[in-house]
Amino acid sequence: MEKLGLNEIREKFLSFFETKEHLRLKSASLIPEKDKSLLLINSGMAPLKPYFTGQEVPPKKRVTTCQKCIRTPDIERVGKTARHGTFFEMLGNFSFGDYFKSEAISWAWEFCTQWLKMPEERLWVTIYQDDDEAFEIWNKKIGLASERIVRMGKEDNFWEIGLGPCGPCSEIYFDRGEKYGCGKPDCKIGCDCDRYIEFWNLVFTQFDKDEEGNYNKLAKPNIDTGMGLERMSVIMQDVYNIFEIDTIRHTLDYICSLAGVEYGKDPTKDVSIRVITDHIRSVTFLVSDGVLPSNEGRGYVLRRLLRRGARHGKLLGFKGPFLSMVSKKVIEAYHQAYPELKEKEKYIQNIIKIEEERFEETLEQGLEKLQEYIKLMNGTDTLSGEAAFKLYDTYGFPLDLTKDMLEEHGLKVDEEAFIEEMERQRKRARTARGDNEAEGWKEDIYSKLDKNIKTTFVGYDNLSYPSIIKAIIADNTIVDKASEGMDIGIILSETPFYAESGGQVADTGVIKGLGFKLHVYDCKKVTGGRFVHHCKVTEGQVAVDDSCTAHVDKKRRLATARNHSVTHLLHKALRDVLGTHVEQAGSLVEKDRLRFDFTHFKAMTGEELAKVEREVNSAIWKSMDITISEVTIDEAKAMGAMALFGEKYGDIVRVVKMGDYSIELCGGTHMTNTSQIGMFKIISESGIAAGIRRIEAITGEALYEYLLRKENIIQDACSKLKTNEDELIKKIEHTLKENKDYEKEIQILKDRIADTSINDYLSKAKEIGNIKYIVLDANSSSIEDMRALGDKLKEKLRSGIVILYSMGSDKTTILAMASKQALSLGVHAGNIIKEITKLGNGSGGGRPDMAQGGIKDNSKLDEIKEAIPMILKKQIE
Ligand code: ALA
Repeated sequence: MEKLGLNEIREKFLSFFETKEHLRLKSASLIPEKDKSLLLINSGMAPLKPYFTGQEVPPKKRVTTCQKCIRTPDIERVGKTARHGTFFEMLGNFSFGDYFKSEAISWAWEFCTQWLKMPEERLWVTIYQDDDEAFEIWNKKIGLASERIVRMGKEDNFWEIGLGPCGPCSEIYFDRGEKYGCGKPDCKIGCDCDRYIEFWNLVFTQFDKDEEGNYNKLAKPNIDTGMGLERMSVIMQDVYNIFEIDTIRHTLDYICSLAGVEYGKDPTKDVSIRVITDHIRSVTFLVSDGVLPSNEGRGYVLRRLLRRGARHGKLLGFKGPFLSMVSKKVIEAYHQAYPELKEKEKYIQNIIKIEEERFEETLEQGLEKLQEYIKLMNGTDTLSGEAAFKLYDTYGFPLDLTKDMLEEHGLKVDEEAFIEEMERQRKRARTARGDNEAEGWKEDIYSKLDKNIKTTFVGYDNLSYPSIIKAIIADNTIVDKASEGMDIGIILSETPFYAESGGQVADTGVIKGLGFKLHVYDCKKVTGGRFVHHCKVTEGQVAVDDSCTAHVDKKRRLATARNHSVTHLLHKALRDVLGTHVEQAGSLVEKDRLRFDFTHFKAMTGEELAKVEREVNSAIWKSMDITISEVTIDEAKAMGAMALFGEKYGDIVRVVKMGDYSIELCGGTHMTNTSQIGMFKIISESGIAAGIRRIEAITGEALYEYLLRKENIIQDACSKLKTNEDELIKKIEHTLKENKDYEKEIQILKDRIADTSINDYLSKAKEIGNIKYIVLDANSSSIEDMRALGDKLKEKLRSGIVILYSMGSDKTTILAMASKQALSLGVHAGNIIKEITKLGNGSGGGRPDMAQGGIKDNSKLDEIKEAIPMILKKQIE
C-alpha cells in the first residue's frame, strides 16, 4: 500500500465518487441546521437527513462529502487512551433513492482495492445476520470467501441514531497483522485489540424510525456510508493510532516543542499532550463555525474542551495562554480542505485566547478551593455535588475537569447530585426569564403535513399577493378550518410575508379572503420549505383550500428594511474604523431598532463611535443604489462578498450590494437606495461576552421620535432655566457658578454664626483656681464636630478645660479636652472621663489632653455635671 497523507485520502475518496457521478458537497457546519435533536453534527449523514426522509429535494441523487464531526460522550477517555478523540472527519457516499446495496458494495471494494491498493486478503466484512442479499453480493459479485463475511446481530450491524433514517449495515475491516494484535488464540474480528480495524460502514437505509419505535419502510431505499478519515489514515500510514497520523502529529509535535517535552517518554505527560492535541482540533473547528464559549449547549461543549485543554497545558508547564498558538497548527494542516479556517484565523485565535485568559483568572482560586474540599472530604472518596457545582458555577470548572482532577487523586464526584444542582439552577434561571424551554422540543407537527405542501416566498418584490390556504394548524394539530377568535398557524402556497431569519424579524399584516380576515403577528420557516403564519382569526371562518390575499404591513416592512440595510453599512464602517478582525457575531433587525454584535476585543472609544456613526451617515447620504443579485457562491466570493458565521449558504446565494461600499450575502429585505435610510444614530455600545461587543442603533421614525424626546428635554430645561437654547449652556454654567458662590457665602455665614456662639459659650465659662472650664451640650453633633468645637474653645480659653457631651437615644458621648496650661497644673482629661463615665455606668479614657467616653444612663447627666467641679478641684490640688 502506498503511504498517503490524510488530506490525500480525503481527496482520493471524493474524486473517486465523482467518477461515479456523485456531487461533491462541502462539509456542513458543525452546528446542525433546523435539527433540534442534535447538539452538534456527529456523522456524515446528519446534515443530510431531510434528503433521506424526502422532506427536501437533494441537489443530486448521488452525493459525496467529507463531514466534520464532533462526538463527546467519550471525552473523559480522550488522552488517557490513544484511541479516543472528539473531532473526526467522516467520508461518505450517499444515494437518495438512487442506487442501492449492489453498487454501494462494489464501489467500496473498488475504492479500497484499486484506488487505495489495499491487499484483498487483508480485508474482512461483517453483515447484518439476516441480510442474505448483502452476503450474496459480497460472496458472488465481489468474490469474497464466505469465511471472511461475518454475520453479526442488531447491536453491531444495524445503524441508527435516535429517530429517522436507519437500516442494516455492512462494515469493512482491515487486518493490520499480528504486530498490532493481542496474540490470543481466539483473536478475530470484533476483538478489542488493534488488529482488526473497522474503517467503513455501509448503511442500507431502508427504514424511517418513528416516535413509537416503528420501523417504517422508506418508499425508496437509500445508501449512507461513513468512512472514518482518521482511521483510514492510521491504516494507510501504518501507525499505531490517530495521534500518529500526519495532520494530527503536526499539532502534537508543536505542543511538545512549545512545552519542551518529548512524546512517549512519560505516560502522565503523554495524556496531557494527547488531550491538548485532540481538544484543540475540536475547539478550532467549533469556533470557526461560529460557536462561542458559554455555559449552555454547544457553547458549553466548546468551553469544556477548551478549559480541559488549558488545564492540561498547566500540567505540561505552560504559564500563560498557549492554545491559540496551537490552533495555528490545526489551521495549517486543515485549511486547504476547510478554507474558513484560514479566513477566520485571527478571529479563532482571539476567541480562544480570551477564553483561556478568562479561565486563568479563576483557575488558581478554583484549584485552591478544590484542595480545600478534598481536605474536608476526610478520607471519603466522593466529592459532593454541591461542591462540584460551586467549582462549576463560581470558578468555571466544567464537571469533567473536576472529575479529571479528582481522578488524579483517586477520587470521584457525586455526579447525580451535581446534575440535580445544575437542574435547580436552570429552573431558577427559567423562572427568572419566564420562558418555557420545553417549547423547542415539541413534536414537529409540520413534518406530518403532505410533502407537496410548500411555500414560495414572493415578498422581495411584492407586499400583497393572492394565495391559497394550504394547511391550518390549531393547538399543534392539523385541522381543516378555524373560526373567529382562534389562534392558528397558516401555510400558504405563496407568501409575501418575510419569515424571521438572519436576525430580521418577521413581517406582520393581514390575510383576507371571502368571509374571513386573519391578523398575522408572526411568520416562521419550518421543515419542508414551508412558511407558517401565526395568526389570530379576527373575522369569519377560514378553511383549507380557501383563496385569499396576503397583505404585509408596509410601514413596518419599510422600517425594518431601513434597519437591515443600515446594518450592512455599519458592518462595513466598523471594519473600516476598527479593523478587519471585526466579524458579525449576530444581529437583530426590528422595526424600531437594530442590534449588531461583532467581534472586537475592547470597548469602543467615544471617538471611534463618532467616526463609525459619521461614516455610516455619509454612506447613507451618498445615495448609493442597493442592488440585489443571485449568483453562485464562488462568484459571490470572487466579488468579495462578506459571508456570515454559522450561516449555511446554498449553491446560489443572494448578494446585496450598496454602491461599491458594501457587499454581503444576505437573504433579508432592503431599501433600494441608501438615501432611503435617512439617518443613523448609535444609541449604545456595550460588551456582551468575551470579545463580543454590541451596538444598538436606530433610523427612520424611531430616530425622529428620539430627536423629539431630546428636543423636549432641552425645551423643558430652557423653560425651567428661563432661557433659550442658544443660551442654555451659558445659563447652566452661570447657575453652577452662582451655586458655588452661594455655597462659599453660606460657609462664611455659618462660621460667623459659630464664632458668635463660641463667644456666647466662653461667656459661660466658670473658674476653679486659675483654670477656666466649660461644660456644654454639643447638641447631638458628630464626634468630629465635637472635637472641632472643643479645639476652638480650648484655644480661646488658653488655660482651661472643655467638656462636651452629645446625647444619643441610647447613650451619651462625652469628650474632655485640656489646654497646655491646664495640663501643667495637673489636669488629666483621661482621668476626668474615667471618673465621670463611671458615674453614668459607662466607660472611657484617653490622653491627658484629650479623652472620650460614653455613658448608658442619661438620667445621670445632671449628677455628673454637678460632680465636675469637684473632680477638677481634686486634680489641681
Ligand atoms: N451513518 C453511518 C455512520 O455514522 C455511516 O457510521
